Amino acid sequence: MRVLGIETSCDETGVAIYDSEKGLIGHTIYSQIELHREYGGVVPELASRDHIHRALPLIDEALQQAGSTKSDINAIAYTAGPGLMGALLAGASIGRSLAWALDIPATEVHHMEGHLLAPMLEDDTIQFPFLSLLVSGGHTQLILAKALGDYEIIGESVDDAIGEAFDKTAKMLGLPYPGGPEISLLAQKGNPGAYKFPRPMTDRPGLDFSYSGLKTFAINTLNKSDKSQQAKADIALAFQTAAIDTLFIKCKRAIAQTDATQLVVAGGVSANAYLRERLTQLEQKFSVTVHYPGKDFCTDNGAMIAFAGWLRLQYKTHQPLAFTARPRWPLNQLTKPSNNEDN
Ligand code: KG4
Ligand code: ZN
Repeated sequence: MRVLGIETSCDETGVAIYDSEKGLIGHTIYSQIELHREYGGVVPELASRDHIHRALPLIDEALQQAGSTKSDINAIAYTAGPGLMGALLAGASIGRSLAWALDIPATEVHHMEGHLLAPMLEDDTIQFPFLSLLVSGGHTQLILAKALGDYEIIGESVDDAIGEAFDKTAKMLGLPYPGGPEISLLAQKGNPGAYKFPRPMTDRPGLDFSYSGLKTFAINTLNKSDKSQQAKADIALAFQTAAIDTLFIKCKRAIAQTDATQLVVAGGVSANAYLRERLTQLEQKFSVTVHYPGKDFCTDNGAMIAFAGWLRLQYKTHQPLAFTARPRWPLNQLTKPSNNEDN
């Protein structure tokens, strides 16, 4: 079975073709970062228009990579949420109409389920149930992934997501959008111990996170500093260390609480090198293996959508023509596919 995956939830148009025998055989992506950079963040209307502009040429490119034509595609998977309404509708309408024209099924995919399953694209040792840490621009969640579509959120941010805190702190330090990779680059020049930032919500029980205070702490520290390049690098390092250490502390707690033997880390922030260094240390403390997505599959991409779609399509029996997009869509409200599913 060959599944065409389409991702358009935010500022990346991602297209991929997943073959159930051969794996990923086509993978193209167009990042709108340059388009949004001058505004310091994503402009939704510009994002939607650009997805419409890019999607069809990217589909052709992915088909070419795969040595396929449209008629070789057996199904389509597209991101239906959560994300920006217009951007989601662009991908959903292209995916659904293409499926209708080709007379093949189409399935909607939850963007965060795509992230959560992305490490499985290249690592077949990951098996349900597992503990997952989802860290992206919009989410910071600890999840008990019991089976496909069966996700229990056991901890999450009560305010900003970690990626959002990276982006806002970077903006305040005068770094370009998106700020996550920029902070980690600048942090390499920071002096360890120059500043000590708090580890929010670690002094009380529970698995929730809070990142807005850390961002404010960074602003206040900058305002009290001489605002030199060195001070900014020291703040970037102190911020990154505190943000990631907080994840480490909560993951440690979650593993102890759930007796998990696998921790699957996913989402854009999982590209962070310090996060990988720190969370991999959990393997020495517990009998747990820690898994990450491949480099190309941390941030938004079509491969994770094609893959999640393929897993889901094995259960689907009937596809409606009507479609919708869901800007807000809690991960614990997904359908749990079964062999006699009929929706
Ligand atoms: O998963 P993603 O591409 O989009 C969402 O679903 O939100 O994640 C984007 C987020 C941004 O906030 C970006 O700054 C952050 O991931 N990010 C990073 C790194 N690479 C991307 N944060 C920290 N370190 C990185 N290396
Ligand atoms: Zn994402």
